[in-house]
Amino acid sequence: MKNQKIKRNKNPRLVVVYSLIDVFQKGYKPKECINRYGRYLNKKDRAMFQEILYGVLRNALYLEWILRQYLPKPEKTSKTTLYNLMAGLYQAIYMRVPDWAVVNETVDVEKHSGRKPSLVNGVLRNFLRSGHIPSPEGDFEERLAVLTSHPVWMIKRWSKRFGREETERLVRANNEIPPLVLRVNLLRYSRDYIMKDLLKKGIKAEHTKYSPAGLKILPPYDFRDIEGMIGKVFIQDEAAQLISYLLDVREGMRILDACAAPGGKTTHIAEITEDKATIVAVDLHPDRLKQLKENILKGGYRSIGIVQGDVNSITWQKGFDRILLDSPCSSLGVIRRNPDLKYRYKGPEEIERFKQKQLHLLLNVSNYLREGGILVYSVCSFEPEETKEVVDEFLHKRKDFYIIDRMDKFECFFDKDGYFFTFPHRDNMDGFFAVRLSRR
Ligand SMILES: C[S@@+](CC[C@H](N)C(=O)[O-])C[C@H]1O[C@@H](n2cnc3c(N)ncnc32)[C@H](O)[C@@H]1O
Repeated sequence: MKNQKIKRNKNPRLVVVYSLIDVFQKGYKPKECINRYGRYLNKKDRAMFQEILYGVLRNALYLEWILRQYLPKPEKTSKTTLYNLMAGLYQAIYMRVPDWAVVNETVDVEKHSGRKPSLVNGVLRNFLRSGHIPSPEGDFEERLAVLTSHPVWMIKRWSKRFGREETERLVRANNEIPPLVLRVNLLRYSRDYIMKDLLKKGIKAEHTKYSPAGLKILPPYDFRDIEGMIGKVFIQDEAAQLISYLLDVREGMRILDACAAPGGKTTHIAEITEDKATIVAVDLHPDRLKQLKENILKGGYRSIGIVQGDVNSITWQKGFDRILLDSPCSSLGVIRRNPDLKYRYKGPEEIERFKQKQLHLLLNVSNYLREGGILVYSVCSFEPEETKEVVDEFLHKRKDFYIIDRMDKFECFFDKDGYFFTFPHRDNMDGFFAVRLSRR
């Protein structure tokens, strides 16, 4: 039904409203909406769809807060109308779409979606006529929560941990559009070769500072040009690239990637080892493994074997030289790439829930590390429950394991206890945590 409407209508703003319903009410990821609906739109409209959708998701609580000042009955307004108004407001405040166009376009969308065109017309006209954007009151945490569209509990816990000034920098960095970073498949190409290749398509790039395989793309670019290069390159933030180097892998090693799909790190490990190691890549989810298989095919690796299943219940005959446990987590370190994550968790107790699963995984996979081998535990989060607390409890239970020294090359990302952290506001990288463990 929706797809029929979009096919007929081809209105990027209507597609934004449908996507917001899918994200907020059905739990879809924004990327899934872009893939599902984007194919009905032309290049220009697809770019607009993406810009408004991500923009609204980055600023959802703020936009809703503003609208509450103008809606006659905020509680009674349907979600569909609210989402349409949020998209209209976003265009007026952040995109410099002329006022008349914001009103006309949003009212037009409302005729096809929420069916309250006169309400939408009135609210937007009143807001635009007022000529100013209201400012929230309250204490520091409450104000920052509204202004940057983060839940108050998140701001409070970060404020306690990092202080106010740094928390503000963190949440503002979470709302920035992140850089597009590629990892060059160094098995087959050099970074400079790929840079020239990109330049032929009119795309400029620069070397990443820490990862020897990374290229940071400098906008503007057409994403389809990049998509066409997958296999020669992979899309992977610099922080995620650094994790594979922490394993210190070499040719001939037996390596277990315990939570492997879609294979960003598995394929990187194959590249670092010149495709001459034995890599066992395990994942629970067949759909995600399908993506890993496609990536293996595109990159042309021969050293990766795939196992589908719960890594907790698989037994291995022989120990591994290296184990990577890139564990499922809250993903709160990658909010800038997935702004919907800000609204997914109701409170800290939901973060705590990941800890038991992570500890369980770590206790199980660590059994298969050979003495003197290296196990890297990593998550794209910097929350204490999923990071240091997991490692503390693990080390308490497993006296035969210890944290090994930092790596000189990436020393600046290690703290005094040997924990590796990256942050969006400090490093302009995704937020990651890792620890390097070894067995006596
Ligand atoms: C953070 S993602 C891994 C990302 C991957 N390492 C990469 O770099 O592309 C975590 C993965 O763990 C998988 N997973 C969760 N529980 C698992 C289990 N018990 N056994 C195996 N895989 C599991 C999920 O399906 C998911 O693909």
